[in-house]
Amino acid sequence: MNSTEPLVDVIAGARPNFMKVAPILRAIDALRKNGGRLRYRLVHTGQHYDSRMSGEFFEQLGIPQPDVNLEVGSGTQAEQTAAIMMRYEKLLMQSRSDLCLVVGDVTSTMACAITAQKLCIPVAHVEGGIRSGDWTMPEEINRLVTDSIANWFFTTTEVANANLRHSGVDDERLFFVGNTMIDTLLANLDRLRPPGFWSEAGLTPGNYFVMTLHRPANVDQVADFERLLGAVDAAVRGLPVVFPVHPRTAKTLASLKAQPASLLVVDPQPYLEFNYLVKHARGVITDSGGITEETTVMGVPCITLRTTTERPETVTLGTNELIGTDPAALKPVLDRLFDGQWKQGSIPEKWDGRTGERIAAILERLLNR
Ligand code: UD1
Repeated sequence: MNSTEPLVDVIAGARPNFMKVAPILRAIDALRKNGGRLRYRLVHTGQHYDSRMSGEFFEQLGIPQPDVNLEVGSGTQAEQTAAIMMRYEKLLMQSRSDLCLVVGDVTSTMACAITAQKLCIPVAHVEGGIRSGDWTMPEEINRLVTDSIANWFFTTTEVANANLRHSGVDDERLFFVGNTMIDTLLANLDRLRPPGFWSEAGLTPGNYFVMTLHRPANVDQVADFERLLGAVDAAVRGLPVVFPVHPRTAKTLASLKAQPASLLVVDPQPYLEFNYLVKHARGVITDSGGITEETTVMGVPCITLRTTTERPETVTLGTNELIGTDPAALKPVLDRLFDGQWKQGSIPEKWDGRTGERIAAILERLLNR
């Protein structure tokens, strides 16, 4: 390895980051085999650290072991932000990189972007420009801060391009490349596999739902959460609801006196098992953002328990519908689904499995100027 070759720090911190960095790393490796000069250093901040939230994703997606793990662990928003900044700054002072590449909207994304930019290291943001408009979501603050100081933006949609142009970003800094999370999905569609409990639970394609909930607005208040689960139970016509429980949600779930009969509560699932479940589900009930993109590409009906989305194309083009956070909205929507009235949906432009390659090629050009 030659130290004059540009070094990119690729930052990964929390579960939804891992599927986004995998195709970029693969594409940089492939370019190097063909004479590319770019090298990367994979920095795991340690925001997610359980094997169920982190390690298994690295194994299944063939992501190399991180070159550095900052091991920040859990904490409040400010504690995590501060810990990541302090530890990443120390790393950069010992060993500078030429670019900090951040993905998505988690705390690690914002914290590393600020740290690098303050040391005059340029920042590129993959999935830049998306906006929910909802400042109560920590992710929205992370997006706004990251985008206000990033040098280059790799975007998933024309809506994101428009948001960035509106905030004063000129076209030379903007690269509409598509969606790396979808690269990972398309590359793994043939490898998806049922989880161990599939047969034992009597699951068959089209005869169960998948549900994920982890937003504070939906899961932090015990009484509201209980009402929400009751409404799901009453609307699914006796079909099982597979519910992989995020650590944050597990705390609230543990304090309920009883759980509705339809719920099949399981641990957070690894990537291949989770997407197998989604692909074959009658529908998905979620408050996630990324899952609405995956259901759009797999053509699975998706019901989102939020009032806003930073991914409007999953609604305008895809299979997603926003129903708000009032549990009473679930029954009529699920009745429509059972009646076969769900929209078909189509796949957004450039969500074609080649986004990682486009990003690597652009970085190679930008950093060798
Ligand atoms: C984070 C992201 C969110 C993403 C979600 C996916 C931010 C602001 N939020 O939220 O965008 O959708 O990840 O999972 O970055 N915990 C564990 N084990 C772990 C990680 C966390 O037990 O490996 C526990 C923590 O102790 C905490 C809770 O899970 O109690 C929440 O973790 P945290 O990373 O703070 O935020 P998430 O809600 O996971």
